[in-house]
Amino acid sequence: MTTAASPEPSAPVRSDFASDFLWGCATSSYQIEGAAREDGRVESIWDRFAATPGKVKDGSSGAIACDHYHRWPQDLDIGRDMGLNAYRFSIAWPRIFTGPGGQPNQKGLDFYSRLVDGMLERGLQPWATLYHWDLPQSLQDQGGWNNRATVDAYLAFVDAMTRCLGDRVQHWITHNEPWCTAIIGNFEGWHAPGLTDFKTALQVAHHVLLSHGKAVPLIRANVADAQVGIALSLHPVHAASAMPEDLAAAARHDGLRYRWFLDPLYGRGYPQATLEAIGDAAPVVLPGDLDAIAAPTDFLGVNYYFPETVQDDPGHAPLSARVLPPAPGTDTTFMGWEVAPQGLTELLLRIEQDYHPGPMYITENGSCYADQINADGEVDDVERRRYLMRHLQALATAIRAGAPVKGYFAWSLLDNFEWAEGYLKRFGLTHIDYATQQRRLKSSGKWYRGFLRGE
Ligand code: FCB
Repeated sequence: MTTAASPEPSAPVRSDFASDFLWGCATSSYQIEGAAREDGRVESIWDRFAATPGKVKDGSSGAIACDHYHRWPQDLDIGRDMGLNAYRFSIAWPRIFTGPGGQPNQKGLDFYSRLVDGMLERGLQPWATLYHWDLPQSLQDQGGWNNRATVDAYLAFVDAMTRCLGDRVQHWITHNEPWCTAIIGNFEGWHAPGLTDFKTALQVAHHVLLSHGKAVPLIRANVADAQVGIALSLHPVHAASAMPEDLAAAARHDGLRYRWFLDPLYGRGYPQATLEAIGDAAPVVLPGDLDAIAAPTDFLGVNYYFPETVQDDPGHAPLSARVLPPAPGTDTTFMGWEVAPQGLTELLLRIEQDYHPGPMYITENGSCYADQINADGEVDDVERRRYLMRHLQALATAIRAGAPVKGYFAWSLLDNFEWAEGYLKRFGLTHIDYATQQRRLKSSGKWYRGFLRGE
């Protein structure tokens, strides 16, 4: 990790970016809301997973989290006071469809309606993510995203939400990180629902992409001037060496990590080489699915955290390609993720070259460090501030080189429930004291505020 003694990068300034650039922070429902049993909310796959011993490192869950369900006015105030002009949040499906079929739950709709009004009152442009991993457990009990019927259930949810909020929310993200939903949740198994079957994972990925594609025209039908996109978790992928075996392994990994999602979204279908590599694990694709998935969108959301280095490893499931941990001495965060701002520049320029996706937004980027409250009651998170500064510089470099990026959402507004890591890992620009629910802006958040004010 870097130390406080590391030299400060020369600071980026707001005027390095267009005057209409969007500046936001991002959060997600299960990670911050709490109120897991309130106003009719039903169990999600994350409630079930977190209640399963050994799945979440500190044995915690999102049952209370940041209690944002009750404290949201204060949290939106933090965003406004930081000078943000946009805010990315997600909608908890289990608050909206609380029983088999039937009507949406009015209390759930009312919560998001109040939340959106609160954003608009504070000058925060709402960016709604429709699926950030909290599937109703009742749907998982019927196969979850592996079951094609979940696509229809999702569309009913999307219809309800866009009818409810479409007069005030123009920006819609259909899915957050389908790779994680599919591969981490259904093959690697360390996220909900915790399955470990590769074929299931690829069918899940297909149904998630299909639900995205089918949602696009539905959102447009319900929302005047809708702006619709998807947020992908993307990584530059490098080979561990120049040996042909490693180069081939990196290409196999990249085929699944990057092209498996981007190729069908931009009308190319699933990459042939990856289809051959996965063999029998290929998903069932019905006629018309690929056309649906390729529905034109208005933007691409890019979530960037770190690059990956890949080595050939015969037999390593699923593609005989292993992602190596960062080499000793590499600058890493408290997650063990490599700090590589130049990876953001590289990634954005590659996407632009490969797909010309139109406007791109950084829908997540951020870092985890072991924050401490000091004797003055402050969280002086020098490393996170530095991470933020360096990634904004890398972003400005990418834009100057031709990547059409129109906004940046820092992950995250608040410390929160970091999935399998529970509350052991903090990503917020605002510190949460979970015992008291006190909010405390960290140095990184103060720096972002100063940057946005042009100080
Ligand atoms: C992303 C997730 C987000 C958060 C960050 C650290 O993959 O979308 O919810 O957990 O990682």
